[in-house]
Amino acid sequence: MRAIVQDRYGAPDQVLQLREVEIPTPRPDEVLVRVRAASVNPDVWHAISGYPRLMRLMGAGLKRQKQPIPGLDMAGEVTAVGHDVTDFHPGDAVFGETHDRIQWVNGGAYAEYVCVPQHVLALKPEGITFEQAASVPTSGTIALVNLRKHIGTRPGQRIVINGAAGGVGGIAIQLAKANGAIVIGVDHTTKLEYMRTLGADKVIDYTQDDVTELEQGIDLIIDVASTLPLSGCKRILKPDGLVVTIGHDHYGAKGRKTLGGIPQFLALMVWAQFDRNLDKSWFEVMEKRDAMEALRGMLESGTLTPIVAKTFPLSEVPAAIQCLQEGRTCGRIVIVP
Ligand SMILES: NC(=O)c1ccc[n+]([C@@H]2O[C@H](COP(=O)([O-])OP(=O)(O)OC[C@H]3O[C@@H](n4cnc5c(N)ncnc54)[C@H](OP(=O)(O)O)[C@@H]3O)[C@@H](O)[C@H]2O)c1
Repeated sequence: MRAIVQDRYGAPDQVLQLREVEIPTPRPDEVLVRVRAASVNPDVWHAISGYPRLMRLMGAGLKRQKQPIPGLDMAGEVTAVGHDVTDFHPGDAVFGETHDRIQWVNGGAYAEYVCVPQHVLALKPEGITFEQAASVPTSGTIALVNLRKHIGTRPGQRIVINGAAGGVGGIAIQLAKANGAIVIGVDHTTKLEYMRTLGADKVIDYTQDDVTELEQGIDLIIDVASTLPLSGCKRILKPDGLVVTIGHDHYGAKGRKTLGGIPQFLALMVWAQFDRNLDKSWFEVMEKRDAMEALRGMLESGTLTPIVAKTFPLSEVPAAIQCLQEGRTCGRIVIVP
């Protein structure tokens, strides 16, 4: 099969090569999927570049990724199943991440075939294309987990989503609206109309205006871009409002190549014990299977419509990652093998 292969950590345009490799064989609990689409998100850049270096100790591999083929989110057709697989059959259209480890571990999705454990997959709804389905798993899970924990069933909450036109933010707007929230989306000048079409009630251009100058009265701030100062967030939050920080050091932009944003996250977790406006539920996660089933239901019901910004062929994965890094795209970038 054709696959993108990475022999060492480094810049995507220097370390990624399109090669012919063996089609993998599924283990007893795995299915073999013919990949029809795979998506690109910031964590793919981290997995390929090897930054922050700490990720290499977190299961990715010290000198090189143990799995040489990058890519985590995908959608495709099951072509073979392992002995113990009961949930899927050859011919099923499925989508999901290719593993349930940290997102900085390569997942093998940038290839014509990939083996995936059955418990991380869901059936692809018929009305959704493979490209749309591949854009959902990681971003959808992170948006779903955070909104489910913090919006609950209280409609009418005022929510700020910072970085609302990106992969995670675009899904978060739709899920928040489906929960009856009033959504204020913050992103670049070029994406204001896009946020409105996703359902945002008010949009703010981060290049012109400061969202932390809004009137006080916000219930929840989902800081996907991770750029808002805590003091500013507190100014606009209700006394019992909450800030949830999702993003981290974007493409190593802050030069923290060894530890990345991890020390800041650890400090935030400690500080959260003393600050009622900070999220304390870091370790409350959803099982992958449950998250995928919930997302499948939302896709099927039309609550969630994934937006594909642009597609690239397998041979152009480095260009696709470059396009993501440059920003200005609305929705997810997708690779079509
Ligand atoms: N994708 C996932 O599945 C996932 C999972 C866990 C964690 N994360 C983390 O979450 C973060 C976002 O992921 P993503 O996939 O949504 O990335 P993305 O698609 O690149 O979206 C980020 C959005 O934030 C915008 N932005 C940049 N600077 C901003 C600022 N100062 N204020 C407001 N918005 C700003 C970007 O716009 P422009 O760049 O065009 O200006 C872009 O629209 C990353 O740090 C990622 O590692 C992602």
